[in-house]
Amino acid sequence: MNNDVAIQVANLSKYYGQLLAVDHISFTVGRGELFGFLGPNGAGKTTTVRMLTGVVIADEGSASILEYKAGSLKAKQVTGVVPEMANAYADLSGWDNLMLMAELYGIPASVARERGISLMQEMGLYPRKHSLVKTYSKGMKQRLILCMALVSDPEVLFLDEPTSGLDVQSARLIKDLLQSLNAKGKTIFLTTHDMDEANQLCDRVAIIDKGNIVAIDAPEKLRMATSGMHSVEVSFDNMVSPEVLANIPGVNAVKKLGDKYRLYTANPGELVVSLANYSSSHGLKVISLNILVPSLEDAFVALTEKETEHA
Ligand SMILES: Nc1ncnc2c1ncn2[C@@H]1O[C@H](COP(=O)(O)OP(=O)(O)OP(=O)(O)O)[C@@H](O)[C@H]1O
Ligand SMILES: [Mg+2]
Repeated sequence: MNNDVAIQVANLSKYYGQLLAVDHISFTVGRGELFGFLGPNGAGKTTTVRMLTGVVIADEGSASILEYKAGSLKAKQVTGVVPEMANAYADLSGWDNLMLMAELYGIPASVARERGISLMQEMGLYPRKHSLVKTYSKGMKQRLILCMALVSDPEVLFLDEPTSGLDVQSARLIKDLLQSLNAKGKTIFLTTHDMDEANQLCDRVAIIDKGNIVAIDAPEKLRMATSGMHSVEVSFDNMVSPEVLANIPGVNAVKKLGDKYRLYTANPGELVVSLANYSSSHGLKVISLNILVPSLEDAFVALTEKETEHA
């Protein structure tokens, strides 16, 4: 027995015909961890979530949730799921969907009602609880699905892109709730495309590409391990051609971003000095200048591109 482990995955694989959608992945998520699962479209994120939540059966390998075999009734009882596709009944009210879900989990009616009220209040849905789900906006539907995933008070929560396509307020409500659940010790497995979201929320992230895990670490460590991605963003009062900037000592690459240039360099400190020299000797004024460390997105792009080159 290992009480520190919430999700254990070993050699998990899934084929769709000839396609190896998930390719022998192994990882462990600790109890109470907020774990991010990132990857480009088609990387195998949803397929992994589906195997871990018992929606599809793995072809090889094994997985367990709190020591229970993934997909077993026991595992399902301790798990809440926000799937990629909305799973609420459109012709029922939000409240009835919630109570139906509670019934499926065998939650006593009085407990279900109490939790339902508090969850709907927290997600700003309470005033619309008796409206049919088909009259809900996308953001409301997604918040309802989160309530449905939580009505059984699960120890482990799986979310497949819960904030995708939502406005800032809805996304924030969901993120705040995830943080408060995590603070209460719940384990959260979060699939997302949103690098900022992963960076803000996750203790660790795995990056999956073409069915393989290419990196797994704390977001900060992944960022720092991305070498050669330091950059300086600069704008001048006059047009400067990218070719000219590329010739400044220390510049590895130049990218135009609107009215600014992003100059990639191994040594941002020295580059700032070179830029100052260049602009004063060419009668230019620097309007803005920022030193940027690699973002999680940079790390993501570097890791997933590397994988493509090797493919
Ligand atoms: N039911 C299915 N039948 C056949 N192929 C499938 C099926 N589901 C997924 N795939 C394929 O498996 C691969 C992984 O898909 P998956 O949905 O897991 O990716 P994802 O990382 O969730 O992508 P997205 O970011 O677009 O949601 C893709 O190539 C996809 O086309
Ligand atoms: Mg998906």
